[in-house]
Amino acid sequence: MISAEKIPNNVGLSSNKRLQRALEHWQPQYIQWWKDMGPQGFQDYHQVYVRTAVSVDPSGWAHFEYVKLPEYRWGIFLADPVHDRRIGFGDFFGQPVWQEVPGEFRNQLRRLIVTQGDTEPASVEQQRWLGQRCPSMYDLRNLFQVNVEEGRHLWAMVYLLHSYFGRDGRDEAEELLARQSGNRDKPRILDAFNEPIENWLDFFMFTMFTDRDGKSQLLSLSESSLDPLSRTTRFMLTEEAHHMFVGETGIARIVERSCQLLEQSSFSEDIRKLGGIDIPTIQKFINLWFSLSLDLHGNEISTNAASYFANGLKGRAQEEKWDDHLVTEKHYELDVAAAGRLERKAIPMRTAMNEVLRDWYVGDCEAGVQRWNKIFERHGMSDRLRLPDRKFNRGIGMFSSLHFDPQGVWLSDEQWEQRKHDWLPAPADREYLLSIMATPVYEPGKFANYIAPPIRGINRMPINFEYVRTEA
Ligand SMILES: [Fe+2]
Ligand SMILES: [Fe+2]
Repeated sequence: MISAEKIPNNVGLSSNKRLQRALEHWQPQYIQWWKDMGPQGFQDYHQVYVRTAVSVDPSGWAHFEYVKLPEYRWGIFLADPVHDRRIGFGDFFGQPVWQEVPGEFRNQLRRLIVTQGDTEPASVEQQRWLGQRCPSMYDLRNLFQVNVEEGRHLWAMVYLLHSYFGRDGRDEAEELLARQSGNRDKPRILDAFNEPIENWLDFFMFTMFTDRDGKSQLLSLSESSLDPLSRTTRFMLTEEAHHMFVGETGIARIVERSCQLLEQSSFSEDIRKLGGIDIPTIQKFINLWFSLSLDLHGNEISTNAASYFANGLKGRAQEEKWDDHLVTEKHYELDVAAAGRLERKAIPMRTAMNEVLRDWYVGDCEAGVQRWNKIFERHGMSDRLRLPDRKFNRGIGMFSSLHFDPQGVWLSDEQWEQRKHDWLPAPADREYLLSIMATPVYEPGKFANYIAPPIRGINRMPINFEYVRTEA
């Protein structure tokens, strides 16, 4: 059960006074950050119908109530320990997992935790203006649910830093509140988390593709030999699922609405004239956020990835499904750009671990896009959405200095410059989206014209439930 302390937790915080004091010292800084950088305009007079964890078992972690955002009970929740858990991969395969951080892996583990931790507040910062442009009260609530949980994920990583990394960990925890998304002098660590999320198409694509990268990373970290990291990330995964639900269903509802608008106009009109979002624009935002999120898996060939795997720090998604957990002999085949053309090369599998994780990620994204395409099928339309080729618009890895179209055809720099706005959002697309989102929809049960209502409400509440209410 989670205690009713100042910092809700299931880690016995009150029996570790030093840690408790350190975290209670960090807490007001966190709240200040949340007020400054969290949802703008919804801090003081609004109550939001959100779920809060009251225990980690299935009946307790999704407890719903109205909460004022700065009073959300952010806390520290670890999944229950697995009895006699053993290291599942790498050079220490089969040995008992670690309850403390081994000195030789301290820097690597700290880096992994800080990098994960940095993404959580970054996304809250990126999304802080969206409440002013929301398509409905239902969506507004979902935005805030995602935001408070990203805040809680930051707490999860800060708990690990404070507990296992001493002075360095405390410094890193402060830095996590000091960096700022998009800030020129102190940006967030990873590029996708410095990109602006200014409209709801960005937001839904971000929660679809970038939060899915989060899922991929959390699955890898939940395999870690460092047991507290594994237990922390395992519980985070239960929350992450809702974020991807928000993204996938958000886009599905936009696609649904676009199909309806096309039908109403007997396919004769430009959807934009009807205030909807046209399918080519949806495709451009897929291209953008999918390619940005692919970068988050790192270089195709990486000695860091090999050493994370060898040392048992970061595994593959669902490691138990693989039959070889040592991976010392196998090779991975990938396309390498050399002398103006692509060449198939076999590289040692451990150094290709980023690519192995990316494969899992691409498959998971692909399944989601296929679910969107079912909507067109249902409407008897031939339009389809698709993922761009992996080499398209990359900022990290061996294709980052080259240009490819969404089908993977190599382009010259001039060709790319001429055509990039056919494939990526152009300033005019963004202006159009802002124009249809300029007036937020706050009336319960009402939806902006460009998006269909959801099939059902949250926690079996009706769709026209007052998910966000204003205090009298
Ligand atoms: Fe998160
Ligand atoms: Fe998330």
